[in-house]
Amino acid sequence: MRKQIVAGNWKMNKDYVDSEILVSKLLEQHHHSTTDVIIAPPFTNLLAAKNTLKGSPISVAAQNMHFAENGAYTGEVSASMLTSIGVKTVILGHSERRAYFNETDEMLAKKVDTALAHGIRIIFCFGEELADRKAKKENEVVASQIKNALFHLSASAWDHIVLAYEPVWAIGTGETASPEQAQDMHAFIRKTLADQYTPALADAVSILYGGSVKSANAKEIFSKPDVDGGLIGGAALDAEHFSAIVNSF
Ligand code: PGA
Repeated sequence: MRKQIVAGNWKMNKDYVDSEILVSKLLEQHHHSTTDVIIAPPFTNLLAAKNTLKGSPISVAAQNMHFAENGAYTGEVSASMLTSIGVKTVILGHSERRAYFNETDEMLAKKVDTALAHGIRIIFCFGEELADRKAKKENEVVASQIKNALFHLSASAWDHIVLAYEPVWAIGTGETASPEQAQDMHAFIRKTLADQYTPALADAVSILYGGSVKSANAKEIFSKPDVDGGLIGGAALDAEHFSAIVNSF
């Protein structure tokens, strides 16, 4: 059985105090017990969040990391810095990183390798832009993003990979892919994995949907057979709202 996962990507929101308030509120909420719950606060709040969540099933992820082991990369954070504070999951390839920080497939392939070398689980994000969808190129774009950053990996590496399909036109826009559009793309992604590796491997990889997921639409999206959960942005900043999404399975 694939894991059901709901991950909250806080982006550049919540200072130290507000982060601790949100984490404490999340602890008070009852979460669906078979769903893996992950939160990704900004770097400055990771250690405090880890400490506050000690003993709870909620885990903590980083929103990014550099591919180099260490060195002269002002402003960057390495894999071993994350593992040294017990962070074992990282979001890579988010469309905002691709668009505003010029992250390329090639760079992401290196980040993926570094994270895996450190035993870090990866939530790997990808998705087409509106123009791609209008030109009916969404499958082509998504397949190439996955292929370029991940298809050099061995089959066993996929135990540490979670995929997150996030159509760029649906992120932070209030515009959600319809449950059918999400299902169609997730089924296509699974077939792409099955063709490259094996149907058994494709069947074991969790594929999350992201892009304006709210408590009002989560249930329908999560009910689709190839949707294994969500990567939540805006709605992850409110404990009750996020927990309602977690409980939508
Ligand atoms: P959103 O963001 O839920 O605010 O659309 C999702 C994401 O960027 O991961």
